[in-house]
Amino acid sequence: MKSIIDVEQQTLPIVDVQIPAPIVPVKATPFVKWAGGKRSIISEIEKRLPKNISTYYEPFVGGGAVYFAFQDLIEKATLADLNEELVLAYKVIATYTDSIIEALQEHERNHQKKNGYYMKVRKQKPDELIDVVARFLYLNKTCFNGLYRVNRSGKFNVPEGRYKNPKICDPSNLKSVAETLKKATIRVGQFDETTFPNAGDFVYCDPPYDGTFTGYQAEGFGEEDQIRLKEAADSWSRLGVSVMISNSDTQFIRELYKDYSVHSITAQRNISCNGNRDRASEVLIMSYE
Ligand SMILES: C[S@@+](CC[C@H](N)C(=O)[O-])C[C@H]1O[C@@H](n2cnc3c(N)ncnc32)[C@H](O)[C@@H]1O
Repeated sequence: MKSIIDVEQQTLPIVDVQIPAPIVPVKATPFVKWAGGKRSIISEIEKRLPKNISTYYEPFVGGGAVYFAFQDLIEKATLADLNEELVLAYKVIATYTDSIIEALQEHERNHQKKNGYYMKVRKQKPDELIDVVARFLYLNKTCFNGLYRVNRSGKFNVPEGRYKNPKICDPSNLKSVAETLKKATIRVGQFDETTFPNAGDFVYCDPPYDGTFTGYQAEGFGEEDQIRLKEAADSWSRLGVSVMISNSDTQFIRELYKDYSVHSITAQRNISCNGNRDRASEVLIMSYE
């Protein structure tokens, strides 16, 4: 009979065993770079969240930095934006995750080997849902500063960014995004046509800021829109909804929200109106204490 020592000293044959990479669930983070992203003021928002949130509403969701930061505290959400391509991306990632990953990986391979691939894709006008969204995500990851700008006829016209090796596809994040979006209803449209909260709900609004960048949509977001937002906030809070709004610290905004609680914060802006990064004074406006 072999002793334990004999067995340990035996030379074992080398077998090439393929150990699958472990699937480590990652917490979903924004899947697009988005102008005005709120990552830098998350802690300021966190300090002032209402104690209980029944349903979370975010009618200017953009890249969703706030939703993704607090996803674990939220059981049910409605996320909306006026940008149709962006909203389509949320919906398609939630439903056709694997197809989007494949299509984006194809863009990634082509981007690495072909000069001029960006411009070629920018000119394309795909019809298929997956191709439309994969193109949108590819351009977002490779264009200048993640800006989204279209010309008068609605064509995306941002130049290519100078990235050595942009991360175009992050499969595990896209899978986590799809998972967390299971608790969200996703809508496209004007903020007051997508958001119908009830008592006990929380609405967080991050509109284009007063007097700054208004180029998300051809129509922009002027003072009349700011006033319309205030009226919507009033009607939500009359129902017993907690409303929080980010905006720039201007006289106009202070005057408009003089019956709300207004807190100044200083934030690093991701992309300002001129495409640069700068620091700006902002306010967090709350309908509750
Ligand atoms: C400041 S960005 C939001 C950024 C977001 N908080 C983030 O973390 O990325 C403003 C968003 O409002 C959207 N928007 C502009 N006008 C709108 C309107 N009238 N109704 C709804 N959304 C609008 C834009 O498409 C843009 O995504």
